[in-house]
Amino acid sequence: MPLIAIASPKGGVGKTTLTAHLAGILAGRGYRVTVLDLDPQNALRLHMGVSIREEGGFMASIQASDGWKSALLDTDCGAKLLPFGAAEPADVLDIATALATRPDLLAGPVRQMLADPDLVLLVDTPPGPGSALAALYPMTDLMVLVLLADAGSASLVPQIAQNRFMGRGSLATRAAERAVVVLNQFDARAPLSAAVLEMAQRALCHRLLGAVARDEAVAEALADKRLLTDGASGAAEDMQVIADQVVRRAGLRPPGTRRPGFSALSEWG
Ligand SMILES: Nc1ncnc2c1ncn2[C@@H]1O[C@H](COP(=O)(O)OP(=O)(O)OP(=O)(O)O)[C@@H](O)[C@H]1O
Ligand SMILES: [Mg+2]
Repeated sequence: MPLIAIASPKGGVGKTTLTAHLAGILAGRGYRVTVLDLDPQNALRLHMGVSIREEGGFMASIQASDGWKSALLDTDCGAKLLPFGAAEPADVLDIATALATRPDLLAGPVRQMLADPDLVLLVDTPPGPGSALAALYPMTDLMVLVLLADAGSASLVPQIAQNRFMGRGSLATRAAERAVVVLNQFDARAPLSAAVLEMAQRALCHRLLGAVARDEAVAEALADKRLLTDGASGAAEDMQVIADQVVRRAGLRPPGTRRPGFSALSEWG
């Protein structure tokens, strides 16, 4: 049921890495997880052990409306994946324009996915706002913003603290209010990392979800087509802690437990 979007005003900060790991960790804990890739780079599949030769996907053919179920792939970690799919640059522009005028092309299928009360939907996004993410604003329960522990990211913290980073308008502001922040590639020995962490803690308070260590094992795991789901220290442990926080902030019920139903309400709805 909950939709958790992983986003950032910046590129190359670890959105896809964190999305794949949250999917793996939550699936490993027994949650039923689907991951949707909204980024035309179509890279999430590589983090999740899918072959580079696999070119099918959901977003790339969203206007042809083949349905989303036929694009679902099983992955090694147990989560299901809806890759973006291979798309030419002209098609990517076309999809973005189509979603700006017809957000329901994406919002409709996602609403169907979210009708499953046991499903956790994680969404990986390209950098910045964009029409695909905007189509999902009204349905987003939690937005996890990834930043680096560097000066470029630090300069964005005030905008995030004031809920202005998604742009103007009620829907963008409401989505921004549901944002929490993860500082990635944190280096406990680097004074700059420590200063950015302190500044982010001050400005964001409880909205700072945590930090993930800079750890070579992250890139090595990707090169090996596996997730870094177990490890006593470094990024693996930090991502488990972030997953604990996501479970809490998104209000995920323990797998297998159901919210009490109100049958009359579902009949009327
Ligand atoms: N904690 C970490 N420690 C070391 N390297 C990391 C860490 N997190 C991510 N990386 C590396 O940083 C690079 C960028 O990560 P990733 O692709 O997840 O970022 P992104 O925000 O999804 O990028 P894009 O904006 O292009 O979609 C990758 O090479 C990844 O292996
Ligand atoms: Mg990415």
